[in-house]
Amino acid sequence: MSTAELLYQELQHVAFGSGGPFSEKQCLDMAPIVDEINALKKEKNAVILAHYYVDPQIISGVGDFVGDSYKLAKDAKGTNADIIVFAAVKFMAETAKVLNPDKTVFVPSKYNGCSLADAVTDVDVRRLKAEFPEHTFVCYINTTAAVKAECDVCVTSSNVYDIIERLPTDKIYFLPDRLMGLNVRDELARRGVKKDVQLYDATCYVHEAFDVDRVEKLRGKYPEVRVLAHPECAPDIIAKADFVASTKGMMQYLQDTDYEAYLLLTECGLASRAEIEMPDKKFVGPCTECRYMKSNTLEDILRVLKQPDNDDRVEIDASVRDGALACIENMFKYAEMKPSDAPTGD
Ligand code: 13P
Ligand code: SF4
Repeated sequence: MSTAELLYQELQHVAFGSGGPFSEKQCLDMAPIVDEINALKKEKNAVILAHYYVDPQIISGVGDFVGDSYKLAKDAKGTNADIIVFAAVKFMAETAKVLNPDKTVFVPSKYNGCSLADAVTDVDVRRLKAEFPEHTFVCYINTTAAVKAECDVCVTSSNVYDIIERLPTDKIYFLPDRLMGLNVRDELARRGVKKDVQLYDATCYVHEAFDVDRVEKLRGKYPEVRVLAHPECAPDIIAKADFVASTKGMMQYLQDTDYEAYLLLTECGLASRAEIEMPDKKFVGPCTECRYMKSNTLEDILRVLKQPDNDDRVEIDASVRDGALACIENMFKYAEMKPSDAPTGD
């Protein structure tokens, strides 16, 4: 099968989000750049890691690994490639570089951060640590390496509740996502765990935009709809959801269930990918896009593989690397701990 046919086989199913539905002509036009990228990957021993939120033609055409931020961090840790192209946002690429200091890491996004990662600096964390000297500092993975270097452990949406529960301390400062932090407080209360969780004041502009009235209206229109929400959504949205999980957790739920329709309260790229992997399922509701994730393009992936400039290369300051590595390794340790192994803090 030709590259154009392979692309069309997948991309014809995309009704949600950027570019969809794709025509045969669009796939034919994209085929040469996809072929060139795939040839360069072989020649240079490069891999492409792609988050679910990037354009579907990137994942279908050139992606070697796709997933949520936790899975992609693990994929980055395990790769033997010399070059990692991280189609996502810069903080995810920084995590890959911290884990692979000897590899070349590129991020083909036009932005340096995202609405959460941009909201807090290492200087802010140092000030807060002086203010809350007894608290364990837990940062969301959506932070820079410099912020991670100041924190004790980082978390992703797939492990935030479990890691905070498992930490052997009852005083936590969680940053930067206030909405996720409010959901942490609610979830700990549901689990009967008492911890003082202090919060920073930032939000993800994509996930804070979901509106409870709209969810209610969609439930009225599709009584059998299953509502899946990301932990970056506001607590009133989480309270209306049937299932709360990271992007990968939502994909798994979709694979494991068979309802009449699904409403995915997260960035629209997840629905695009779900339509490709599960073309018989029906998705309803708004399509909200993340401008940071959607700024990755096939053209920029080709450029970084062919003629990168210095801004494309992800570098980590030597003064930051060890601290950021400890913070990320602590995430792996607590995420993979069996509940029975979790320290009690006694
Ligand atoms: P996931 O880890 O669930 O993919 O989330 C990353 C993210 O940026 C959500 O906005
Ligand atoms: Fe950042 Fe929100 Fe985009 Fe995720 S969806 S990368 S948190 S702005």
